[in-house]
Amino acid sequence: MSYHQDAIAPHGGELVNRIATPEQREEFLSKADFLPRVQLDERAVSDLEMIAIGAFSPLTGFMNQSDYDRVVTEMRLANGLVWSIPITLSVAEEVASPLKEGDLIRLDNPAGRFIGVLQLTQKYTYDKIREAVNVYRTDDANHPGVQVVYNQGAVHLAGDIWLLQRDPHPQFPTYQIDPSASRQMFRENGWKTVVGFQTRNPIHRAHEYIQKCALETVDALFLHPLVGATKDDDIAADVRMRCYEILLEHYYPHDRVVLAINPAAMRYAGPREAIFHALVRKNYGCTHFIVGRDHAGVGNYYGTYDAQYIFDEFEPSEIGIVPMKFEHAFYCTRTKQMATTKTSPSKPEERIHLSGTKVREMLRRGELPPPEFSRPEVAAELARAMRVPVPALT
Ligand code: ADX
Repeated sequence: MSYHQDAIAPHGGELVNRIATPEQREEFLSKADFLPRVQLDERAVSDLEMIAIGAFSPLTGFMNQSDYDRVVTEMRLANGLVWSIPITLSVAEEVASPLKEGDLIRLDNPAGRFIGVLQLTQKYTYDKIREAVNVYRTDDANHPGVQVVYNQGAVHLAGDIWLLQRDPHPQFPTYQIDPSASRQMFRENGWKTVVGFQTRNPIHRAHEYIQKCALETVDALFLHPLVGATKDDDIAADVRMRCYEILLEHYYPHDRVVLAINPAAMRYAGPREAIFHALVRKNYGCTHFIVGRDHAGVGNYYGTYDAQYIFDEFEPSEIGIVPMKFEHAFYCTRTKQMATTKTSPSKPEERIHLSGTKVREMLRRGELPPPEFSRPEVAAELARAMRVPVPALT
């Protein structure tokens, strides 16, 4: 890896910035009414932003066919760099057919607002089942990531993009810390090692345990909950963020933990998404990344540790960021603390295992998750959000 001023270089060496300059923006705005338009869905909007802010470095746009094909089949871009998830802009055939390669295309958000530009370099069709089987390891249309692929348009539009301007996040403006800013923050704090944490669920004690185990060995923790599109039955991002705020206030050191949003959409691609999540956090400047049980998994599609094994398919230097792998953590009633089978002598019946799914079910039944699973302040916040009567905290 070439010299870089930060503890870790972005993937591919340079942090991409595809936010239009004021001059480019003026130019795009003056052409806006004459450009062909494509309307983006929520995921494409977040992909556009992630590319523009450098979170998907080295990508400078939506993938062309050679990148796409090699990513799907080999988890590499055409130039050989590791990349595990296709980043594509799919449209229906009738939308694609009037567009010509070479066109500048106006990209609108779902509300019809002009938010970006695509320099169209290629249109191509693709095999959805091949993508599903390779990326998601299943062709089952019930898989939420596969479902998105099956429902999306039949043509990919490829080319470099510009984001017209970087707006503050509508819900979490103070937690919008883009890669250039997180890198600067890590630099200014003199942190040489920072561990990134991905999550899409309300924080529970197993999360806290693995975060703190990791933090014992590095300088700082970058808590990076995903707030882009998730499946309908996942807990809403504002509730999850409130749980984080409460937990940080009461249970975390304030000088070495940073809470920031990850504006990406969730793919539920398990192992492949673990690699992708790690590379994205590398772009944010993290040197380490937590991969626990069934990372980015859903249902029973992936083995408990598949998302850890997949890192062994690459040379560590090709990934750069170091995965910190954790076994399934639980509350051990024998030692009265959080643990895994690596650290606890407990018998299975002495372990309290709860999943996010089970807790959602409990809340729906009007029950609060127990303190062995969730800090009481967090349980109370979840209960409020789910309209469960909250007993007074003692
Ligand atoms: S994910 O889809 O974002 O991976 P979740 O928010 O539940 O879902 O998980 C965040 C991270 O914590 C992942 O790395 C996951 O593997 C890890 N994790 C979640 N629960 C546990 C647990 N009980 N033991 C160990 N790791 C866990």
